[in-house]
Amino acid sequence: MGDEKREKLKDLYYKIKDCKKCSLYKTKNKFVFGGGNANAELVFVGEAPGKNEDLKGKPFVGRAGKVLDDLLGSINLTRDQVFIANVLKCRPPGNRDPRAEEVEACKGHLFNQLKIMEPKIICTLGKHSTQLILNTKQGITGLRGKVYRRGNKIIFPINHPAAVLYNPSKYGTLQKDFKRIEELLEENIEKEAVNLGEEKKEESRQLGLF
Ligand code: URA
Repeated sequence: MGDEKREKLKDLYYKIKDCKKCSLYKTKNKFVFGGGNANAELVFVGEAPGKNEDLKGKPFVGRAGKVLDDLLGSINLTRDQVFIANVLKCRPPGNRDPRAEEVEACKGHLFNQLKIMEPKIICTLGKHSTQLILNTKQGITGLRGKVYRRGNKIIFPINHPAAVLYNPSKYGTLQKDFKRIEELLEENIEKEAVNLGEEKKEESRQLGLF
């Protein structure tokens, strides 16, 4: 039982690692599948690999990753207790924003990862993953720090850790949101959730997400 999800993730990795569904495979160095504990209750979803991630083939190994590690540490978690993935598996040149067609091409890989892991909490980091997972065009400012429910899962959008690198005053908000993650991991999450409504639920069911 313990190894089942890891084996399934491994199979998925070998199936998609040479993906050519969008043109980013031409400019990337390494495919960044994501990493961590396949049985994690908490999965983080970032935006896309940056320079360091592209070179190492691992998620969040640069400066934003250091911020993420510190925040995890603040609630006594380490990387091997969570899983970290991204919306895009290949680096957009110059770290530009993901394009709609790239997200469209790549999102199935993320959805398949989530379907295998079935985490209790999906914490989306920043605008791109939040908009994809919540299937909304709303900005991150209005969404962050709120608890969204789909089936028996929680989606919790927060600011991207990289935001702190440009605006250190955002660290406090991230710290507060991580405290909330700690509570959510402990609490009966059913009571906490904001219900997204039947229409959105049906949409995610069709996507085969949750
Ligand atoms: N930023 C992201 O969104 N993902 C990474 O893996 C690294 C930086």
